[in-house]
Amino acid sequence: MPARILLVAADQSAAAAVDVLTGEGHRLVAAHDAREALALVDAERPDLALVDAELGGSSGPDLLRRLRATDTPGSHLPLILFGAAADVAAKVSGLRAGADDYLAKPLHPVELSARVRALLARHAPRAQQPAVATAPGRVLAFYGAKGGVGTTTLAINAAIALRRNVHRSVALVDANLQFGDHRVFLDLGTDRRSIVDAVTATEIDQDILRRTVVRHESGIDLLLAPVTPENAELVNAEHHHLHTIIEALRGMYEYVLVDLDKRFDEHTLDVISLAESLVVVMTADLSCLKNVRLVLDTMAQIGVPEERMQLVLNRSNAYTGINPKAVESVLRREINFQVVNDYRVAIGSLNTGSPVMMRRADSPIAKGIIDMVTELDGPAEPVARPAALKLVGAGA
Ligand SMILES: Nc1ncnc2c1ncn2[C@@H]1O[C@H](COP(=O)(O)OP(=O)(O)OP(=O)(O)O)[C@@H](O)[C@H]1O
Ligand SMILES: [Mg+2]
Repeated sequence: MPARILLVAADQSAAAAVDVLTGEGHRLVAAHDAREALALVDAERPDLALVDAELGGSSGPDLLRRLRATDTPGSHLPLILFGAAADVAAKVSGLRAGADDYLAKPLHPVELSARVRALLARHAPRAQQPAVATAPGRVLAFYGAKGGVGTTTLAINAAIALRRNVHRSVALVDANLQFGDHRVFLDLGTDRRSIVDAVTATEIDQDILRRTVVRHESGIDLLLAPVTPENAELVNAEHHHLHTIIEALRGMYEYVLVDLDKRFDEHTLDVISLAESLVVVMTADLSCLKNVRLVLDTMAQIGVPEERMQLVLNRSNAYTGINPKAVESVLRREINFQVVNDYRVAIGSLNTGSPVMMRRADSPIAKGIIDMVTELDGPAEPVARPAALKLVGAGA
């Protein structure tokens, strides 16, 4: 079966031998350094990688380790290292760093073809490998204390940072069922599949979700909102569709991030009941502070432990007359994360459909987001999750 093969080499010396693979129908993508290679692994999901041991400096073994880190439970990227025949040290350090095989230069087309075929036979193509997480994935629910505080911006970029910087498998669900805007943020057309395709299937299971998610070039999988608001109703709250979907996604990905709707409806409560963390996004203004207080009190009433809530102060250094210390003293609790204000970077990303984590991964906004996900990715606190949440006075 034709496979996608990534060739990572600084020069053309392997090109002639590698031609045999294209002749056999495989598709070749080429990278010239470690950075390009990692970007292509995310974007192209190759089925096998060929890495030149003489890539330069320590980048050979280091790259192998980083490529190996892109494996997810149930998915293994076969890696073939090639280098000088006499370079036993390179061979040993490559195999230790995660290479499956070592080939001596100059590459011989027949041998290369045989080794590639053997490894591909042992490991199913990545696209066909079921993404089976060994433990249920972590659900992070992003909730905006007020409209326009940056919830979608943070949810999308946190998902990408978890994928690219922490090397986790990630699904991102747009739970703004009526007016979800991930298509706009990520420059995707309305022809893409949405959550409607999953809820109108005969059964909502991992199989249909695997066919419904849309792979973004960053490497995250998206479950998009319906294209039109009237279709939002097809996602049925009484049947707990969103709950079923997120439960299934947790079995497929290490992280399921959810960009929540503002309404505290049945769907939102379903997601919160599954979430390991409720990430409450806020800015430092009075109406937002009032809402955060309300969210904290409401969550306390329905039995969500305070430590499951993470407060993110977005646009933290924007002048509002209220500084982060004052926010903490009004709320009588600490702010867990801060993301700085940079309107140019944020709006530039929105207008180009290329998220901050991809377009400006070196920016202060990106740094704040990377710090946040790195800390969230720390060891999970075992927290008892209530089976179902009900708002007081919300009826039976
Ligand atoms: N850290 C930031 N610095 C500057 N601008 C930001 C920042 N975060 C988000 N923005 C900008 O704020 C605006 C609103 O962002 P976004 O749509 O993510 O908010 P939201 O809370 O999801 O809004 P909604 O309530 O409509 O869903 C966008 O123009 C975005 O570019
Ligand atoms: Mg939003």
